[in-house]
Amino acid sequence: MNSISNQIKQKPWLGWLMFFLTVILVFVLGLLASSIVERRAEAAYAFTPQVQYENFEPRNEIWGKNFPMEYQSYKKTADTLFRSKYNGSATIDMLEVDPRLVVLWAGYGFSKDYKQGRGHSYAVDDIRNTLRTGGPLKGGTSPMPNTCWTCKSPDVPRLMEKIGVAEFYQGTWETKGAEIVNSIGCADCHDASTMELHISRPALIEAFERKGENIAEASHQEMRSLVCAQCHVEYYFDKNKVEGVPYLTFPWDKGYSVESMEEYYDDIEFADWTHKLSRAPMLKAQHPGYETYMTGVHASRGVSCADCHMPFMSEGGQKYTDHHVQSPLNNVANSCQVCHREETDKLIHDVYERQDRIIENRDKLEELLVRSHVEAKLAWELGATEEQMTAILQDIRHAQWRWDYAAASHGGSFHSPVEISRVIGTGITIAQEGRIKLSRLLFSLGQTEEVAYPDISSKAAAQAFIGMDAATLKAEKEIFLQTVVPGWDLVAAERESTYPVKSLFD
Ligand code: HEC
Ligand code: HEC
Ligand code: HEC
Ligand code: HEC
Repeated sequence: MNSISNQIKQKPWLGWLMFFLTVILVFVLGLLASSIVERRAEAAYAFTPQVQYENFEPRNEIWGKNFPMEYQSYKKTADTLFRSKYNGSATIDMLEVDPRLVVLWAGYGFSKDYKQGRGHSYAVDDIRNTLRTGGPLKGGTSPMPNTCWTCKSPDVPRLMEKIGVAEFYQGTWETKGAEIVNSIGCADCHDASTMELHISRPALIEAFERKGENIAEASHQEMRSLVCAQCHVEYYFDKNKVEGVPYLTFPWDKGYSVESMEEYYDDIEFADWTHKLSRAPMLKAQHPGYETYMTGVHASRGVSCADCHMPFMSEGGQKYTDHHVQSPLNNVANSCQVCHREETDKLIHDVYERQDRIIENRDKLEELLVRSHVEAKLAWELGATEEQMTAILQDIRHAQWRWDYAAASHGGSFHSPVEISRVIGTGITIAQEGRIKLSRLLFSLGQTEEVAYPDISSKAAAQAFIGMDAATLKAEKEIFLQTVVPGWDLVAAERESTYPVKSLFD
């Protein structure tokens, strides 16, 4: 056999030929590769603005003209078909599922109506529909302030810029109905001129400032959670900051834990309402999603809310961030399997297992709280004094705060199962301590038998038990939705027709 090296020895030019051919081949391959990479990059970042609009532009569909992939995926938040074991994108009437809640919230708006959240594009519809905002007809007022609009719409930063922050919060809810019409969207999380993530809500910026931190220094990865922390957090209305204004405030000055916030509220003697049965000065936890997430293992490994709820997607060579914010269990491939190698079923099982275990104890705590309120009511009826009741009511306040902190931290049983279990555990202990005090007091007042558990087998039965007339509230709401709300939309459409939007292809 005449090997290649022998042939090259005989004809040296053959070696040179092979060398040059190789160089040319490598060069051509290189060109090809670089052209593919460039095309990919073009596909990923193809940005040809179609329209120019103002920084405040609240309408998602206008932004959508420039960013069709993000807008199309955002629109999927209107889907209501996905159900996981406990969550999903459909409305769930939680008072129907768990009538104990009606008793826990007696005397407070949530006992009228509480539905589990659905997609971002329903935020405005749902605040209009809930019985909590009431059915204010001409001249009438809502029981809720304008502060309630704050986490619903990109019209909020628009209006705050125009009239001022305190002026925005001021007044009852129906007075700004014609101003807030676009559901959560682009301007809530993005700066229109740079498209960078940005914080549009003053309450978050102010909470950082009070802790001596500057949110503008947050890293890019932190911003991928902080944009959510504008809304998915615990808050209250501070009535002492600006005269006559329920000023939206995050109670984070002492820390984010259930104990730190409890201490904050106790120090300022704040109560959201007085319980109708027990007369305890109650706290309503809102939705400390961000606070509880931060105590979990994903947060400590630097995984952001957007990593799971807004994963990267790839469609026809185009890469984009999925703006269909939803339960990640509807898209385990993109939400979890970029990091975890387990099968989909296994990952979903992990989530359900954590939720099941926590809900078991959460239900137990709910039952203890129902009993506490009913027993305290009886104690008052039997002639208990304020002095005898103070410590008991404080226990009820603290135990229910812990239950609510755990229950309302939506997703918390997965985001941070150990912390949520701990919080429920401390709640059970405090509730039982309260009931030991109660049973001693009841005994001294002549009640020696166990106090009967009320019939609260359905939402209707529970509402009847606390003496609430839901039918009248519903009827008022119906009329309000038919007669007042269409007027709001007309006024808004007229205003929006004056917002400058310029086509760049005229
Ligand atoms: C401007 C306030 C606001 C911001 C910002 C916001 N949310 Fe929401 N989010 C809401 C409200 C309000 C709802 C409930 C809407 C409803 O039920 O009508 C909601 C609902 C949800 C749901 C439930 C969706 C479903 O299908 O059940 C998830 C999940 C969620 N948000 C995650 C996030 C994540 C993750 C971020 C950050 C990337 C974020 N949200 C940013 C206010 C906000
Ligand atoms: C709840 C917050 C939130 C809302 C609302 C939101 N975005 Fe985003 N957006 C994000 C996050 C988080 C990213 C990822 C940013 C990053 O990591 O650089 C992103 C990225 C983007 C990008 C960069 C390209 C990409 O896909 O990663 C564009 C463009 C964009 N969004 C457009 C929009 C448009 C248009 C809307 C309204 C229809 C919108 N966004 C609404 C949070 C939001
Ligand atoms: C960006 C990467 C990343 C993503 C996305 C991610 N995880 Fe994780 N996950 C981690 C890391 C890191 C840990 C910590 C374990 C470790 O360090 O070995 C972890 C831990 C876990 C654990 C064990 C911790 C516990 O709570 O007991 C479970 C279960 C889990 N992940 C499920 C999921 C599911 C379900 C999803 C999707 C909804 C998901 N993960 C998305 C990175 C990720
Ligand atoms: C490691 C992945 C992961 C991270 C990080 C994460 N979540 Fe979740 N989230 C989940 C999973 C899984 C569920 C449970 C979904 C279910 O039960 O269908 C969930 C549930 C939720 C829910 C309730 C959804 C519903 O349908 O009602 C909300 C709201 C939510 N998360 C918001 C957030 C916010 C805000 C952050 C950041 C502060 C965050 N999540 C961080 C995986 C994650």
